[in-house]
Amino acid sequence: MCGIIGYTGQRPAGPILIEGLRRLEYRGYDSAGIALFDDRDGLFVQRAAGKVDQLVSRLEGTLPPASAGIGHTRWATHGGATDANAHPHLDPSGRVAVVHNGIIENFESLQRPYRQRGIRFMSETDTEVLAYLVADELARGLDLAEAVRAVIGMSEGAYSLVVITKDEPGRIVAARVGNAGGIVLGHNEDEKFIASDLAALLPHTRNVTFLEPGEVADITAEAVRYTDLEGMPLMKAIEVQSYDPVAAVKGRFKHFMLKEIHEQPVGTLDMIRGRYRLDPPSVDLDDMPFSAEQVRAFTRVVLIGMGTSMHSAMVGRHYIERFARIPAEVDNAAEFTYRRPVLDEHTLVISVSQSGETVDLLAAMEEARAAGCPQLTVCNVPGAQTTRVADATIYMRMGPEIAVASTKTMMASIIAIHAVALWLGRMRGTLDSSLEREQVEAAQHLPAAIGEALLLEPQIAQVARKYAQAEHFLFLGRGWAYPIAMEGALKLKEVSYIHAEGYPAGEMKHGPIALIDEHMPTVALALRDELHDKMRSNIEQLKARRGPVVAVVSQGDETLNGVADDVIELPEIEAALSPLVALVVMQLLAYYIALERGADIDQPRNLAKTVTVE
Ligand code: M6R
Repeated sequence: MCGIIGYTGQRPAGPILIEGLRRLEYRGYDSAGIALFDDRDGLFVQRAAGKVDQLVSRLEGTLPPASAGIGHTRWATHGGATDANAHPHLDPSGRVAVVHNGIIENFESLQRPYRQRGIRFMSETDTEVLAYLVADELARGLDLAEAVRAVIGMSEGAYSLVVITKDEPGRIVAARVGNAGGIVLGHNEDEKFIASDLAALLPHTRNVTFLEPGEVADITAEAVRYTDLEGMPLMKAIEVQSYDPVAAVKGRFKHFMLKEIHEQPVGTLDMIRGRYRLDPPSVDLDDMPFSAEQVRAFTRVVLIGMGTSMHSAMVGRHYIERFARIPAEVDNAAEFTYRRPVLDEHTLVISVSQSGETVDLLAAMEEARAAGCPQLTVCNVPGAQTTRVADATIYMRMGPEIAVASTKTMMASIIAIHAVALWLGRMRGTLDSSLEREQVEAAQHLPAAIGEALLLEPQIAQVARKYAQAEHFLFLGRGWAYPIAMEGALKLKEVSYIHAEGYPAGEMKHGPIALIDEHMPTVALALRDELHDKMRSNIEQLKARRGPVVAVVSQGDETLNGVADDVIELPEIEAALSPLVALVVMQLLAYYIALERGADIDQPRNLAKTVTVE
């Protein structure tokens, strides 16, 4: 959700904050603002509804030469996307400025005493009252860090918070409460940075410290002091990150989404490198902390995620059942947490998250931890919160994903679960060696197959032009292609705003077929596997009702020529990995339809890359 940035050092803070906001903008882009220490007026604050560009034009020529300040890019939760609701928020005297990510659940009761005294709030946010409270605590004689801890003690919810006061130029206090929204600090000798995620820090430093829930950092240019919420001092180490900031630029591509789709062949190679071994064929996940005895005792695997990550988990379920022969189920993390799932220490929980910050997923992981489940997480962002909760992490190795619509990380997370399934099968003795060989060899071909799928781009762009004006789309698949159909529909909705439904093809006759007419195209995934004939029948049923069909088929499959309106033929790949190659087609189709419709592809309306509120 919202992005937070802060800087204190010797250099002009304004440009550093603006650049940081641009890097964090994918987290939320309803409005943006900054607060800087200003010699003349105490605090200089500027805010603007809309994207960071709006803020920049409003700032034109007015930035004071401050060497410390904070900034925020917002995804609205309380109150619309207006100037008044943009952060930073100030107390009535302008002494304290606050930026915040997450939700203050009891903000109305915190506001009540002020309202009763006739004090007005300038915004509709749950944040503003925090500035009032911090100012009151300072007035009582507390210092800034003490005041922030006192206000945290009064506030309910999960959030991160960064606060400054004009009384102490150069001092910034940051806190993390609960699992909503990370805070990472960057350290250079005489300057410090604060950000919601690494991407904003890495152009400046690789020396970082992640705040854990319940930690407060008291920051000046020279030093950082850490405490818990009671004020007890904490020792925290500086980690050196190797994440590649250069990957976070668009290069020759018009959009990050297209760039990230094109990064998949190389990213896939990185995913399998060192994990899939040919001689003898096996998957090497030796860094897993689970003993052979523990693995043999697993009775069930539960895979959890949200959005695209849940779709990865849905494909992964097939792999776990097929290769490891363990009963596997998939759950939407937000549903999982609140239905009181039956869990025990023999249930392996596999969580999937690009960001590692998704609050629904973190809540589900806490539920699993409380039940004593061993946990493995698949994550793209080094050091993210999910990696701290889980017993083991498989990193996606995909570099920063900037487009709000996930693409390359879905590819990587499916591969990760494929590897886990093969590893579990071997550890449990349930994986036939010829099947193991087949899968390991197939994985070696995957990067090239994905590269060949990208060569379909001109054909896909043409199909996109043909259907770009449709108002509704249906996506159908069976087996492991069904989650890819779901993902095709999600991607299209996200970037083009076309209404799209993803269904298991067998379900079509049980309702959705009523929607079919000549105006409703269907993208049908008819991959060469044991369900192909059934899929073909479904396509015939669509055609009998005049529904336009785009069939996505395996190489050499001519059975749908003359039946479907458009046939997109995938490159050759072993059946279990064919969903990954089909995924590229779904991504490109959504991209090119959105392009035709002139949509804001990298930052679609209403969305945020990292969802840190429930
Ligand atoms: O960071 P995560 O993978 O946990 O995020 C989960 C979803 O919010 C995310 O996949 C979302 O659905 C994307 N916008 C999909 O493109």
